[in-house]
Amino acid sequence: MKTFTMPGADLQVPAVVLGLMRIAEKSDEEVRTLVRTAIDAGIDFVDHADLYGPTYHACERRFAEAMRLTPSEREALTIQTKCGIRQPGPYFDFSYEHILESVDGSLAALGTDYLDILLLHRPDALVEPDEVARAFDALHAAGKVRHFGVSNHTPGQVELLRHSVRQPLVANQIQLSVTHAPAIASGVAMNMGDLDQSIDRDNGIVDYCRLHGITLQAWSPFQARFFDGPFLGNPRYAELNTVIDRLAWKYEVPAEAIAVAWITRHPAQMQVVLGTTTPARVEAAARGADVHLSRSEWYEMFRAAGHTVP
Ligand SMILES: NC(=O)c1ccc[n+]([C@@H]2O[C@H](COP(=O)([O-])OP(=O)(O)OC[C@H]3O[C@@H](n4cnc5c(N)ncnc54)[C@H](OP(=O)(O)O)[C@@H]3O)[C@@H](O)[C@H]2O)c1
Repeated sequence: MKTFTMPGADLQVPAVVLGLMRIAEKSDEEVRTLVRTAIDAGIDFVDHADLYGPTYHACERRFAEAMRLTPSEREALTIQTKCGIRQPGPYFDFSYEHILESVDGSLAALGTDYLDILLLHRPDALVEPDEVARAFDALHAAGKVRHFGVSNHTPGQVELLRHSVRQPLVANQIQLSVTHAPAIASGVAMNMGDLDQSIDRDNGIVDYCRLHGITLQAWSPFQARFFDGPFLGNPRYAELNTVIDRLAWKYEVPAEAIAVAWITRHPAQMQVVLGTTTPARVEAAARGADVHLSRSEWYEMFRAAGHTVP
């Protein structure tokens, strides 16, 4: 497994992360097999959110109850979770009280004294950056959170937070797969009047994160679009699957690995956040971090996914 030192954090992290959004209904044994398969494949980093599950903290609790981590097992894992989305609603809440309350809930559910990384889940239009800074200072001083980051934030939103927050913002988790890649595709087709792909939907978040040493984390790496099922084996993406299958044969890896490799090949040094609950798919996907696609192969997948290379 390819690993790297996360800028802004003293953490050695894998290029592939295990997301645990979909484990609420899984048994202890299923969760254990899933997580242990990931760890055996070099994925010692898990992604949670207070929101995941039918009720708050349900997936965090499911994970902790199934794993019953010893202190040394806990220490060996990087545990990341998120806060800031309120239900019912939904609405967003970056208030001091909510951030602290959410973290306490996550710590209790996860059965741990500290979070390695806390992300602000989705931008709060009513954010008061000084209030976020106060919350982060309190959590950091209490030893409850070691590192902080964001998710689904634009460069301007990150800048606004960075103006007040004293700790480095180490990660920005955004939706990214070869089929859902506006963060990359708009720049490739910059300023083309008649092409929808040319619309910049995030103000250049990839370049911004590279410039500021913020690790991009790709969520839904297998979903065609927004939670509408995977593109692998999907007849709507026949051309893409033909290319993926050929590359899988060439590199002697499963198709999932090629989907992952398309993201890890990008020089921004991104992390891929898997959501599968199938251990064999975790194993397959993990192999992608060690496949280095050529430039022409990377662009061939990009074109086959429907993007324009002008
Ligand atoms: N920051 C955010 O706003 C945000 C939003 C959404 C998700 N996330 C994070 O990102 C993680 C991944 O999201 P996701 O679950 O939507 O991503 P995903 O990995 O693209 O999708 C996984 C889903 O696709 C299914 N699937 C079917 N065929 C597959 C194949 N060949 N390979 C892989 N998966 C296949 C999986 O089913 P099986 O389980 O049956 O294999 C699972 O339901 C989540 O766990 C969460 O941690 C973050």
